[in-house]
Amino acid sequence: MAEIARFGVSIDKDLLDKFDRLIKKEEYTNRSEAFRDLIREKLVVAEWDKGSSVAGTITLVYDHHRRDLLNNLTDIQHDYHDLIISSQHVHLDHNNCLEIIVVKGDRLKIKKLAYKLKASKGVKFGQLSMATTGKNL
Ligand code: NI
Repeated sequence: MAEIARFGVSIDKDLLDKFDRLIKKEEYTNRSEAFRDLIREKLVVAEWDKGSSVAGTITLVYDHHRRDLLNNLTDIQHDYHDLIISSQHVHLDHNNCLEIIVVKGDRLKIKKLAYKLKASKGVKFGQLSMATTGKNL
């Protein structure tokens, strides 16, 4: 287990009150865990700005009836097969599909893959969720 360090933080009382209200809503039982998560979030953002290998998910919602779109999305994923660990397709209703693509690898290539999928005509929603490989946290 890592060594624990303690430090004091000077902060505007109003700002701390707002923070406390927020973390209570988010079910944190103490400030320390909320601070640790904030620090981890910053580190993950830095990983996506400068790191070499990252991990995340791409979520898409699209029209099931557009066969050209389905082919296009599949073609794009084949072009980037080395980044894709797995994908899950859910039939939301008669018209809509939701797809979750788990990705790991070069951050710039992953961003490009996400941009291409999102920009495909007929995609109603597309979001890259930037997670971490966990190695640097
Ligand atoms: Ni479907």
